[in-house]
Amino acid sequence: MFYGITFALILFSYCMQLVGDIPFCHNLRQTAAIAGKERIYRDAYGSYVAETPFSWQEVTQKLVTKSAQFGRTVEGLKVYRRYMNGIKKEWKSIDSYCKHRYLKYPYSIQTENGKMIKYVKDDAISPVKSGMVLERNNYPYHLSPGIGHYVVWSVRNQSMATYQKFVNERFPSNAYDVIVFENMEESKSVKSVVHVHAFVRTKKLNLCSLRTHLVSRNYYYFLLL
Ligand SMILES: *[C@@H]1O[C@H](CO)[C@@H](O)[C@H](O)[C@H]1NC(C)=O
Repeated sequence: MFYGITFALILFSYCMQLVGDIPFCHNLRQTAAIAGKERIYRDAYGSYVAETPFSWQEVTQKLVTKSAQFGRTVEGLKVYRRYMNGIKKEWKSIDSYCKHRYLKYPYSIQTENGKMIKYVKDDAISPVKSGMVLERNNYPYHLSPGIGHYVVWSVRNQSMATYQKFVNERFPSNAYDVIVFENMEESKSVKSVVHVHAFVRTKKLNLCSLRTHLVSRNYYYFLLL
């Protein structure tokens, strides 16, 4: 009986080793290897372009080093710039626009050179009760399919744990992986409105992650005891 179980476990662990060699897992590893090479550059406008999408693993690694620099696709940047230019025509600043659009601050109108310009007064008050809003980023970074890019807009500075909890209200941690992070000051396009980014993906157990999980925990040796 004991030998039967031991044999089954050895066979099982051997199978898990094999799983590591199936092409799909291999591809994952290659993607991670490419990650070492920087493939982000600044375009003529100074915006970051990412030539290849970031996988979940790369995103996690990048954020650990705290030098998180992401980029958009060339096409995505075109659309993003068109959108930003549209706002600049109508609003005094991008920050005013974001305050109104996401945190529902009321706006005022002033005339500048005979043109009506919208802006949010410094003493305006947001009617948003929680003081925070979670929105999908319509101009996401270049991320692998399956990773959602969201932004938490906030009336006041909060701890990272508070933002994380807020995102987890919509994406519970038992079903989703959530990473919350703040861009470095120089990478922020909206500077005076508090906001952090959130990457979200559905938790899924595939064979590759199962194997990594088991190996990292020395799970089958534990079973032998
Ligand atoms: C949040 O913190 C930053 C940096 O400490 C500060 O410059 C900013 O004014 C704060 N914003 C709010 C809304 O409190």
